Parts: sequence; C-alpha cells; structure tokens
Amino acid sequence: MDVKKDQGERIEVIYSAALIRERIDRLAQEIASRDMRNLLVISILKGSFIFAADLIRALHVAGLSPQVDFMTLSSYGAGEKSSGQVTVARDFDLDVTDRDVLLVDDILESGRTLAFARETISGRGADRVFSCVLLDKRGHRVAEIDADFVAFDCPDVFVVGYGMDAGYRFRELPFVGRVVQDDG
Ligand code: IMP
Ligand code: MG
Repeated sequence: MDVKKDQGERIEVIYSAALIRERIDRLAQEIASRDMRNLLVISILKGSFIFAADLIRALHVAGLSPQVDFMTLSSYGAGEKSSGQVTVARDFDLDVTDRDVLLVDDILESGRTLAFARETISGRGADRVFSCVLLDKRGHRVAEIDADFVAFDCPDVFVVGYGMDAGYRFRELPFVGRVVQDDG
C-alpha cells in the first residue's frame, strides 16, 4: 500500500517493513555463522541508523554481542546527486586494533563511501573489515568494492524511507520506497 505524503506526491513501497524484518533476521544468522571475533559494528550515519538498530538487535537474537559505534560520512548534500567526495563529519570513538569490524551502511552505489570507510578502518589496525548494506545498486560502481552481506539488490531508482532521505525528508518511513509525483 502506498503512502500519501503531500498533495500530488506519494511514496510507492518497494520493500515493506515485514519483508525487511524477515530479511534482516536471516542476514543476522548469516553474519553470526561467520566466526566474528571481538566484533565491533560501525554504523555509517546518517542513512543507516534504522537499519543498524534493527540489525544489531537481530545479531543479539542470533547469539552475537557486538559493540557498536558510529561514523558520520557525507558525500551527498541536500539533493539526490552525490558530490563524489567523501568526508568525515564525525569520527568513531572505539579502538579497532586487532578486531573484526562490521561496517553497516544503507546503500552501496558508487562504492566510494564504503571504500573510504574500509580503508580508514583497516588503516587503524582492524584485523578484518566486513561490510553489510541494506541495498546494493550495482549499476553505478566506481570503486572496486562489494559488500560481504547484502539484504537486497536494489533497482536503479532513488529510494527513501527506513532511514534514507531525499532532502532530509522521509527518514521516518518504516519501509523503503520511492517518491512518485501524481499528475493533476
Ligand atoms: P556511494 O558512495 O555512491 O556508494 O553512495 C552511498 C551513499 O549514498 C549511501 O550511503 C546513501 O547515503 C547515499 N545514497 C545513494 N543512493 C541513494 C538513494 O537512492 N537514496 C538515498 N540515499 C542514497
Ligand atoms: Mg549513507
């Protein structure tokens, strides 16, 4: 069921809340089966905050006890187009030396964000760096990188909801969808 946000504007559901929940439970089992040592989850803000919140609780159910930290990276401004330049707006706090780290992000698109995060964390002495993304848009890769864990392969559309925004809107939606303008 679509959700009306404004006159002439609705959000078409692509991944429902129920589908996301079910997929994350299975993803957490997959991650837990991989012998993670002294695991630190680093959620890449802002877009992954809801995904990370659900994933770490699913990891708990799957038997893991990760520590959790956050890193704010930015490549998008207020619009829908990436600037291409990744910058650290807020760094994480914990020591990653000799640890397994699981990077969590909302979308893997060009790969610049994840490649940057991975290099940064490896450079600080992490033992192994894994990555987990909610959505993989494979058509636009610039950096040579793939995620270790992917919830969904995503069609090539700009998506919002479940933490992801368009011009700072729609993060609150419990599902992933796309904005559709109705004519008339
Ligand atoms: P990349 O660096 O090109 O891989 O871009 C990844 C980042 O761009 C993601 O973490 C998102 O924050 C953002 N992004 C890419 N596509 C979308 C989209 O369709 N909706 C919202 N954010 C997006
Ligand atoms: Mg992001």
